[in-house]
Amino acid sequence: MRIAMIGTGYVGLVSGACFADFGHRVTCVDTDAGKIASLKRGVMPIFEPGLEQLVETSVKAGRLDFTTDISGPVAEADAVFIAVGTPSRRGDGHADLSYVHAAARDIAAALQGFTVVVTKSTVPVGTGDEVERIIRETNPQADVAVASNPEFLREGAAIRDFKHPDRIVVGTDDERARKALGEVYRPLYLNQAPILYTGRRTAELIKYAANAFLATKITFINEIADLAEKVGADVQEVARGIGLDNRIGSKFLNAGPGFGGSCFPKDTRALVKTALDYEAPLRIVEAVLAVNDNRKRAMARKVANALGGQLRGKQIAVLGLTFKPETDDMREAPSIPLVTGLLDHGARVRAYDPVGMEQAKHELPDIAYAADPYDCAKDADALVIVTEWVQFRALDLERLKREMKQPVIVDLRNIYRREDMQALGFVYESVGRGA
Ligand code: UDX
Repeated sequence: MRIAMIGTGYVGLVSGACFADFGHRVTCVDTDAGKIASLKRGVMPIFEPGLEQLVETSVKAGRLDFTTDISGPVAEADAVFIAVGTPSRRGDGHADLSYVHAAARDIAAALQGFTVVVTKSTVPVGTGDEVERIIRETNPQADVAVASNPEFLREGAAIRDFKHPDRIVVGTDDERARKALGEVYRPLYLNQAPILYTGRRTAELIKYAANAFLATKITFINEIADLAEKVGADVQEVARGIGLDNRIGSKFLNAGPGFGGSCFPKDTRALVKTALDYEAPLRIVEAVLAVNDNRKRAMARKVANALGGQLRGKQIAVLGLTFKPETDDMREAPSIPLVTGLLDHGARVRAYDPVGMEQAKHELPDIAYAADPYDCAKDADALVIVTEWVQFRALDLERLKREMKQPVIVDLRNIYRREDMQALGFVYESVGRGA
């Protein structure tokens, strides 16, 4: 199959590289000339394990290339995927669809022969209808079917998720489009991945419902964690105790500082807006958003409490800045409100992250950055673990303690055991593990 991938952001680049790896002929298109020039040189715009190598192999094999010109690749394509950004619109939280609409117009003008146009970007219900309307208005002669094919990739594990999905969702009523997308994903259902054919609006809603449900699951366990602290219970054992029930499931029950990232906050906000527009409000999801925002802000207070209530003049070490490990993505990271709160209360902050520091400097310009975890801990009154990078799970704790002014650790990801930390002489606070 010949595929044109419009947008070389996270989703577009990973999807394009994986389709090429399946054996399809893929061209990735982006309006950002600098980005395309870098990609041609083999430089990835994002940090994602395995991506650079996957791109290199497919480019060498002649199955993958990059361009700023949309018309050639679209004209030749059997399937055109729209994977441009849908950021939160400033002011109202609705998804900003201007990039999707612009892509639809550009695609329409270039279409030749039967082509399936597929929205892969996370788009509100009804966007497929709008994309189809734009294409038909711009080019009434076009022989086109518009489908929805949402992605469920996790940053840091995106290639694995793409190649071993729990399911593939294809939303279209058009038989030719179903056949074409069946062909695109054939290598996966040879691997037994279930492919679910639905209506277009249903596919669009599946994506939002999945993200909102996962965000709800995390927020639920975070609130249980707060209660566990008060009543002297252990949230990790509670999570295990409920997660073994197959109806609940054990994943996404790790209590922490609140969810962040490029998807959950933005997509839950957009879903809440859509639901209000259709007069079918989603009160649970509204509560999830509010609870999560408050929680992120409350983390600075948690650090203050570990220090007896006072942050003024204190030196705080922060380990981990990205919203999760194995990514350099800082979008909506819990570290941002945490650090801002610490600074607001008069603390000084020195932070370390294995790959996220360059990105972090844009968001958090007023703090010091360390060369490694021990440099970060130097003279600190407290050390806060915000992101659970693997390297933070095996720190030389004796050395860390020697570097610190006071041995106080606030572990927001529960990666250490309280008994071990206390045996080493640390004052140790974590999430949801009551005394
Ligand atoms: C998510 C979805 O998982 C993915 O299917 C969708 O396509 C995009 O959004 P991603 O944002 O990359 O992926 O990361 P994910 O691993 O889901 O984590 C999101 C946030 O939730 C992170 O801040 C993470 O720390 C937090 N989280 C996750 C928890 O706090 N506890 C958990 O148990 C799981």
